[in-house]
Amino acid sequence: MEKNIVLVGFMGTGKSEVGELLAKKLGRKFIDTDKLIEEREKDRIARIFQVKGEEYFRNLEEKIIEEVSEYKNCVIATGGGALIREKNYLNLKKNGILICLTATPEEIYKRTLPKKDRPLLMKSKNVIETIKELLERRKPYYSKADYTIDTTKKKIEDVVDEIIEIVKKENGENPSKSW
Ligand code: S3P
Repeated sequence: MEKNIVLVGFMGTGKSEVGELLAKKLGRKFIDTDKLIEEREKDRIARIFQVKGEEYFRNLEEKIIEEVSEYKNCVIATGGGALIREKNYLNLKKNGILICLTATPEEIYKRTLPKKDRPLLMKSKNVIETIKELLERRKPYYSKADYTIDTTKKKIEDVVDEIIEIVKKENGENPSKSW
């Protein structure tokens, strides 16, 4: 039985893009918890935040994470705030290797700038400061991941390859256990 590969970390660190390619390379199912939430709610995350509030979103996120944590052999990309709730961490950890993707605040700023779908950054008057503050506040949660990869200057493909190496090591390089 293989563990899920769970990508955690701040907005704009590449969880969804890396997760999708990683799953493709490994022939695993890819699950993006934010996408699942949007499908279930038939609405965009930004609008869910706006209309129903963050607490409502966090409760949905908790439910979805509880559900997907039961899966096996998947690549799971989570939203940037997933680890704030201890329950989510414990669920994801049950059958998952947690890999935290990071990037510098400047890089995160660049990557999230063109997108208008980041409700926690949308209203900020000083986005870079908001990113720095949130990153600082979330440090203790992200540091609970099993591995951390700085994606700042890396291509998606290189991050994917790094994760594949990690998973190989976790499996003791046992080919019968590999994908
Ligand atoms: C959030 C990050 C978003 C999304 C929601 C809240 C956060 O996901 O879940 O807007 O609290 O950091 P991404 O990390 O995929 O942008």
